[in-house]
Amino acid sequence: MKWLRWIACVLLAGGAGGIVAGAPNPDWFPKQQMLTIGVYYYPEAWPASQWARDMANIHKLGMEYVHMGEFAWYFMEPQEDNYQFDWLEKNVELAAKQGMKVILCTPSATPPIWLTRKHPEILMVDKAGRTMDHGSREQADWSSPVYREYVTKIVTELVKRFGHNPHVWGWQIDNELSHYGRHYSYSPAATAKFRNWLRETYGTVDRLNQAWGGAFWSEMYQNFDQIDIPNTETLVADPSPHAMLDFERWFAHETADYLQMQANIIRKYSQNQWVTTNYMTLNKDVDPSLSSNNLDVFTWTHYPVHGEMNEGKLGFRLGSAEQMSFMHDFMRPFTGLSGLMELQPGQVNWGDVNPWPLPGAIHMWIMRAFGADARLVCTYRYRQPLFGSEIYHKGLVEPDGVTPSPGGREYAQAMRDIVELRKHYDSNAREPADYTARRTAFLIHYDNWWDIDNHPQTTRWSTVGHWMRYYRALKTMMAPVDVITPDRDFSKYPFVVAPAYQLIDDDLIHRLTAYAQNGGHLILTCRTAEKDPNGHLWETLWAEPIYTLIGAKIPFYDLLPPGVVGHVNAAGKNFVWGSWGEILEPQQGTEVLAKYADQFYAGRPAAVTHKLGRGTVTYIGVDTLDGELERVLLHRVYESAGAAPANLDPNFLVDWRDGFWVATNLASQPEAIPAGASAHLLVGGREVPPGGVAVWTQ
Ligand code: GAL
Repeated sequence: MKWLRWIACVLLAGGAGGIVAGAPNPDWFPKQQMLTIGVYYYPEAWPASQWARDMANIHKLGMEYVHMGEFAWYFMEPQEDNYQFDWLEKNVELAAKQGMKVILCTPSATPPIWLTRKHPEILMVDKAGRTMDHGSREQADWSSPVYREYVTKIVTELVKRFGHNPHVWGWQIDNELSHYGRHYSYSPAATAKFRNWLRETYGTVDRLNQAWGGAFWSEMYQNFDQIDIPNTETLVADPSPHAMLDFERWFAHETADYLQMQANIIRKYSQNQWVTTNYMTLNKDVDPSLSSNNLDVFTWTHYPVHGEMNEGKLGFRLGSAEQMSFMHDFMRPFTGLSGLMELQPGQVNWGDVNPWPLPGAIHMWIMRAFGADARLVCTYRYRQPLFGSEIYHKGLVEPDGVTPSPGGREYAQAMRDIVELRKHYDSNAREPADYTARRTAFLIHYDNWWDIDNHPQTTRWSTVGHWMRYYRALKTMMAPVDVITPDRDFSKYPFVVAPAYQLIDDDLIHRLTAYAQNGGHLILTCRTAEKDPNGHLWETLWAEPIYTLIGAKIPFYDLLPPGVVGHVNAAGKNFVWGSWGEILEPQQGTEVLAKYADQFYAGRPAAVTHKLGRGTVTYIGVDTLDGELERVLLHRVYESAGAAPANLDPNFLVDWRDGFWVATNLASQPEAIPAGASAHLLVGGREVPPGGVAVWTQ
């Protein structure tokens, strides 16, 4: 119960962070509605004579809202200052006539040709120095003051027109804000803003030289205007990792700043409408945590099946359980309001190969979102395009524009299920205590991701892969997980897992120490605390600042070349590693959990645990190939802490939400639900087939 009360506080506090939005408006996402489903529609691409028919058919599929406008700048402003919103207003009306709400978008992902030709300086410049051109999307440079001016104008006009429209429910800023595979802009505008950010961050160039380690290779600067964006295309040897880290930080801040600029305009001219942007699945260039105070709702885009093999023989038709689940757990804690802004409706067009999802999988993904406490799911897209670069992309209807596609039928089924589940909503339902007892904060920071990847030390290392080995283990244990950044309060979670937390400061070490001393169970892993926040090694023994915290020393680490594997023994079993292995030296009172089995350090510890105050700290210094050791050790920690973990297949996800247990099966074999005899099944059966779902109350 203590945890429950705390979670309620966090949700409220998180929502109150919205800049002028205040606490989340209860009308936006009524709790008893739980999840709502909608669809993308592009009126600008279809004859006006079909709009009413399409809206009526969208409603017939059960959809509760429509999403429009993110690529429609040309149609909103065909010539400079000539604003045309009647067509959009007509569609808002048509949606409203069907009882559907509307999400509108700012169109900044696709500047119109007149703007690009008049002001080519708004275009981004890629790493090779080439200016990108009109004819696609996300080619604009949001560091360009001219571009920001034009964006301000169109967004202002758009929101002035629709900001008080009662049918407009919320706003999406831009679309998957990024430059996709081109990553960053190296334009003069971006360079100027990067320099300014450095000026503000460091104050003097001496301080910057120190932080960037300018004494190495004579990389000293005399003033900020001498600094360029570090670019491996124009540098003969490796760039300074500190310059790279700062550039990645700046780019993420700049992106968040641009989102904030648009959010401010929306808030200024609208009333009672929420603001989001649709983030891509774990995109290293854009850090959502930097916008945690500026958006009301956190949404992301998900295309689980696009030719990746994933696990199991059906994995390529089902998607990745850990990726899907992790993103929900990352998006939700910011404000408590989260969802999928784009979800695949069938085959996509952009993978190397684009298989058909397993029948049932689309319905299952939606129900996974439900289980993960998402408040909305929106599908990309209603109609299959008849022209354009996404011509092979399925929609909810076939190319004839009216016949529901197989995916369309699965969306309709999911909506019917949700409508049925709403009837069983019980506002008094309380999270089961044994589930709550496993609640885990999964602590990440993009700084660590950037810095490790700038200096991986071994091609066998994957930062996200490392995170996922732990995350996946947690989900096999049926632990509810919040993926959070350290600016959030983790002190009340019974467990904290902080994987490969490479850049650390005294304050965080202090907070982690206090957390364990006060009864928390902390799990730290290899590559933690090697460096300070500038990415410099500590002038101490290797990672010494955490020796007291982990109850051990780390005299050295080893890396094995591709093709060579090492072995670790733990709990009477043998595990295989290859990428990163730290050799530990326990202090008195520290228990050894795993030992290396070969190489010149055979018999020496690879993982340790000890009591610290009223809690425990466990340090796992080795990164195994399949994450099995990590799973076994986490299991042990939770068990010893009295939080009896489950033992599910990693692709079988089970979570609790609003009184409902929800199981979704992304494994290639049927799985039995972990439910007592008294379970009351509302969706599916006790055995869940691949791509299947079960929802029950207990
Ligand atoms: C998304 C994008 C959409 C659409 C979709 C196609 O990444 O945001 O605009 O292109 O892919 O699958």
